[in-house]
This record gives sequence, C-alpha cells and structure tokens, in this order.
Amino acid sequence: IRTVHVGVIGLGTVGGGTVRLIQKHRDSYIDAYGIDIEVTRGCALDADRAAELGLTGDAFTSDWRDITSDPDIDIVVELIGGEHPATEIFEDAFAHGKHVVSANKALLGKQVGTLAAHARAAGVQIRCEAACGGGIPIVNALEHALVGNKALTIAGIVNGTTNYILSRMDAEGLDFADVLADAQRLGYAEADPTADVDGFDAASKLAILSSIAFHTRVTTDDVYMQGIRNVSAIDIEQARELGMKVKLLAVGRNTPAGVDVRVHPTMIPADHQLAAVNGAMNAVYMVGDAVGETMFYGAGAGAFPTASAVVGDILELARPLCQGDDLAAESEPYAKVLPIRPID
Ligand code: HSE
Repeated sequence: IRTVHVGVIGLGTVGGGTVRLIQKHRDSYIDAYGIDIEVTRGCALDADRAAELGLTGDAFTSDWRDITSDPDIDIVVELIGGEHPATEIFEDAFAHGKHVVSANKALLGKQVGTLAAHARAAGVQIRCEAACGGGIPIVNALEHALVGNKALTIAGIVNGTTNYILSRMDAEGLDFADVLADAQRLGYAEADPTADVDGFDAASKLAILSSIAFHTRVTTDDVYMQGIRNVSAIDIEQARELGMKVKLLAVGRNTPAGVDVRVHPTMIPADHQLAAVNGAMNAVYMVGDAVGETMFYGAGAGAFPTASAVVGDILELARPLCQGDDLAAESEPYAKVLPIRPID
C-alpha cells in the first residue's frame, strides 16, 4: 500500500487537531477508502508541542523548508496563518511539486486567485475548506455539488466571535465590551480580536467564497467592511421591537453591475434561518439559479471541527495518489457489514 506523506506546518489548535484526527482514524481511512495518510513531519517552534503529538526525531523540525523541500512529502499542510512566511511556504511547496492544504483565510482572502494560478502552473492544487466556516463544507459545495448553478447570493455568518458577542448581547441585554472578554477567554477570538470585531476576518472568508462562487478574483480589499464595535444594546433592543435580529453578515451578490461584497451589521427578519444561528456557530446561506435557497450550518472554529475540513482536503488530494494502489483498487465501497438494529 502506498502511504501518502503529509507535512504539517503549525501545530497549534488546528494543527494539533489535524494530527490527532489522522492518528485516530488512519486505520479506518485505509479500510474504508484504501487511502493511507501519515503525518510524516510536523513543524513548530516548540519541540515539546510536537512531542505531545508524537512527532519526535526526524518527524519534528522547526524550519518549514524541511517540509516544503522534503522529497518524501506529498502534501504540505499550512496552518500557521498570516501572510508571511505562509506565502513563501505555498510558493516553495509549488516549486517542489507539492499540493497545499491550508486554513489561512487572511492570506487566501488577499490572494486566492493568484496562488491558485501559481498552483495550476505547477500542476498541483490548493484546497482550503477550513479557511471558511471551519467544519462547514461550503467550499466543497460551491466547487463541486453546486457548480452547475449560477450563484446569485451568498450570505454568511462566518465569524464565530462576533456572532457569540451579538447573541449574548441579544439574550442578556449586555453591551459589546462586557461580552468581548468572554469571547477571548473561550478561545473563539483571533490573537488580535480586532480582526474579528472590525469585520476583517469575515471579509477574508467572504473574498474566498465569492471568488469561488462567482468565478472572479475578489480580494479582502474589495470588501466594504464595518464591524460590530458600535452596535449597542439599544440597537439590538430596537431591532427586536421591529421583529428583527442584528447579525454580522458577509454578503456577496452577483449583480448585473458586478459583484457586490460587503460585511456589516445587518438587521434580518427574526424568522429567517440565519437569525436562528446563535453563539459561536456559523452558517452560510446561498442562492443559486437552479438550486434556489440552500443553507449550511456548523461549527466555524475549534480544533476538531476545523481539522475535519483539513483532513477532508488531505484525503481528497490523497485519493488519486492511491488510485494505482492495490488496496485502493480492491477496496469495495460500502463493504463493511454492520448489524442493522431492529425497529422496536
Ligand atoms: N476567529 C475566528 C472566528 C476563528 O471567530 O470565527 C475561525 O476562523
């Protein structure tokens, strides 16, 4: 059996979740899909963190170039975030003929079109399901299942921190500042919470989703952006009196005049599906010309929800690499026999 070798750069919350998820399910991926993936090397600044994940000796490095240039590694997983050295990691991986899986919304929001073109020129792929909406499979849906549509509108609650803050302001009549500290303590917020609170994080995700949905190059700089800093308890109370909820929406619309992309606090009818998305949960509502309305809901952050998206991308890239393999060829879909529980 051909083992697909994966190098993970960044062993923080998402990187740790990714390594642990692969370790936990490696045997079942072999059984179910005939795909064997191994985290061959991890890169972090802290060797102790890598050791906690079982990455010691040659399996640990503190220099990302050891991973992008390692001839044994098939797929580079970039989970450090930020623009640099993440850009250099992508480019060096492409130069060495490796696919890249990433959750890096800040970088991809600015450059998804450019980096995808560089990947294509190198004959490799970028996959970034985890960059938008954590575990929600919206990138895959737009790229595959919904690709026959003309996408008309996407409207998402794609930042858990601000949705948590607005939900608690609504439920408890609190002011913005009272709730921000709790969001930080619970680990939803970015290291610098201004990226969440001022709408930048949601704008990055919207730029990626709009680029995919509308087949165009939208960057974070194109997105009109207004955060929730100035939303007061009184605004939320007044919205309630009008039968509305206040949500930080990331909206992309395909109009005859061009693509309209914006992130701002929005009053939405209390009976709209998006109004029921509370706490740190995320959701993306999409309207296509053929499918009509669809909505995707789930955890937008956290170690395992985000690892779910990262590992899904890794498995999809690994699948063709294993296709010539005996086990992949022999693996029979839906072959496992489970007892069917009788209905009482
Ligand atoms: N800070 C982000 C959020 C994390 O609150 O949604 C997930 O991208």
